[in-house]
Amino acid sequence: MSPRSSSEAMGPKKPNQIPDSPPQGLPLWDPRKFLERPGVYNFFQRAVGADRPRRRFMAEHVAPLGSARVLEVGCGPGTNCAWLPKSIEYVGCDLSEAYITYARQVYGDRYQFFSAPVGRLRALGLKPFKAVIALALLHHLNDAEVLTLCGEVVPLLEPGGIFMTGDPCFTPNQSRLERFITSCDRGRYVRYPEQYRALLARKFPVVDMEVSRSRGMMIPNSGVLLKAHGG
Ligand SMILES: C[S@@+](CC[C@H](N)C(=O)[O-])C[C@H]1O[C@@H](n2cnc3c(N)ncnc32)[C@H](O)[C@@H]1O
Repeated sequence: MSPRSSSEAMGPKKPNQIPDSPPQGLPLWDPRKFLERPGVYNFFQRAVGADRPRRRFMAEHVAPLGSARVLEVGCGPGTNCAWLPKSIEYVGCDLSEAYITYARQVYGDRYQFFSAPVGRLRALGLKPFKAVIALALLHHLNDAEVLTLCGEVVPLLEPGGIFMTGDPCFTPNQSRLERFITSCDRGRYVRYPEQYRALLARKFPVVDMEVSRSRGMMIPNSGVLLKAHGG
């Protein structure tokens, strides 16, 4: 099965059709380039009300893990660390050296951070985790990269461990405004919920899915949360 096939199975005309080329980084003239600066990213996230869903995710899905080891892949500038339950032993990694440098400055005394892209996680030699989380990462990865990530996550999970992801998504009923805003995302691979789920289902036997809309955000936004078990 080719890396694009799960999207093709959903029909080629949908607006999230996966481009042929991998992301090359934003051109200098693109205003979204500013988001590559850690402080600007955090300011923007707060401005659109993303704090609330982050806090909710931590309270509902991470806090129940107790004193667990948790890895966040695509951790950005460590934004989610602000809401981590104190009991969690956290490790973050991200492609962006600027984000990781910032995360280390702010949270380096409590947590460990690595500058590493998807595909290089094994080389970090990490001990297994109760949970691996990837928040707002999958929509930055093409299908092949998502599968690579899943392949790396499976051996990083303790027995009974869980892989949790959360991403913006397209839905059939969303407004034009929401669709437009979602299509402006820096991530070039925003998908329909079932497309995300189908990708994870290729590496994990059980993938639970929850789609929610605009819960606490200042902009219309639909998101999909996936919980994958038993890889
Ligand atoms: C929208 S940000 C989300 C950051 C953080 N998880 C959060 O919730 O704020 C997406 C992150 O994925 C990272 N990323 C994109 N492609 C990646 C890759 N191939 N490997 C690792 N990280 C990647 C980006 O550098 C960015 O920090």
